[in-house]
Amino acid sequence: MAPSNTRIFSLPTAELHLHIEGTLEPELVFELAENNGVALPFDSVEALRERYQFTSLQSFLDLYYDCMSVLQTRADFRTLGERYLERAYEQGVRHAEIFFDAQAHTIRGVDAEEVLDGLLDALEAGARKGISGGLILSFLRDRPVAEALETLESLAHRAGDLLGVGLDSAEVGYPPELFTPVFARAKELGLRLVAHAGEEGPAAYVREALDLLGAERIDHGIRSLEDPELIERLRRERIPLTVCPLSNVKLAVIPTLAEHPILDLLDKEILVTVNSDDPAYFGGYLADNMAGLVDAFPALDGALERLARNSVEASFASDERKAELHALIDEWASRA
Ligand code: ADE
Ligand code: ZN
Repeated sequence: MAPSNTRIFSLPTAELHLHIEGTLEPELVFELAENNGVALPFDSVEALRERYQFTSLQSFLDLYYDCMSVLQTRADFRTLGERYLERAYEQGVRHAEIFFDAQAHTIRGVDAEEVLDGLLDALEAGARKGISGGLILSFLRDRPVAEALETLESLAHRAGDLLGVGLDSAEVGYPPELFTPVFARAKELGLRLVAHAGEEGPAAYVREALDLLGAERIDHGIRSLEDPELIERLRRERIPLTVCPLSNVKLAVIPTLAEHPILDLLDKEILVTVNSDDPAYFGGYLADNMAGLVDAFPALDGALERLARNSVEASFASDERKAELHALIDEWASRA
């Protein structure tokens, strides 16, 4: 690790855009396939890794959902969560708000509570090591709205174990508006609201997510830049964007990291945060994303503290935990 990377990897951050199923490393796919007697359509870890060349969000999602077939028991989800939290900790993450795609498991016959309990086990283990966090039940927007509502109702008695709800999967053609009743019910249950919008879809989806779903945070949101009035609103209302640079390049949303709009978003005073999305598939965890950006934009080195503080401000951590996270950043800044 280069000296500047040591600084980046020790920067205390909050990860706010992370799909736990997207942390399923090829080695774990094979380990769980063997434990659970699941036949895989790839011969080896290397053969699976060779498939990690995507041309769009959908081309990634096809493989992402296929690999999940190995996740079957509470223990599997605990292992998945623990391995992510260990890797994230090594990259400076001290608070993680984690998406899980319950429907991708229930439609295969896995009980949503097994998923939830396994991930809560992992978070408990993470808390003992110094990472706080919570779980965000994310609805698959390319599946029926009624199924999302059923999933939410099936976990309504566990609302206290959830931080919030989100909206993900194939974006174009599935506008946020469709999910208005689902988000209204989630709000009634006291859950926090976030949504993917403006990744491949237009800026209008970001507006819908804010106005119709009541989203408090927008996941990706980079296409908001096409709508100056929307950008001004995001700035004025301090609505966070959880940006995922390596993901954007891997999914061909942006041609290269050097063309990523992170500096533009910072210049426009947007509450932007850096996150890893699906790190097992996109070539890196949170600090790898930061390091890639600093490589592409050396000027960003001076904005690392701001990005870390943005992640704390944009999080749903308690005020007390936020103060602790800011104190960790103070300590980092005094060493830097
Ligand atoms: N599910 C997992 N990763 C995703 C992404 N980048 N966009 C939408 N849905 C996802
Ligand atoms: Zn995502």
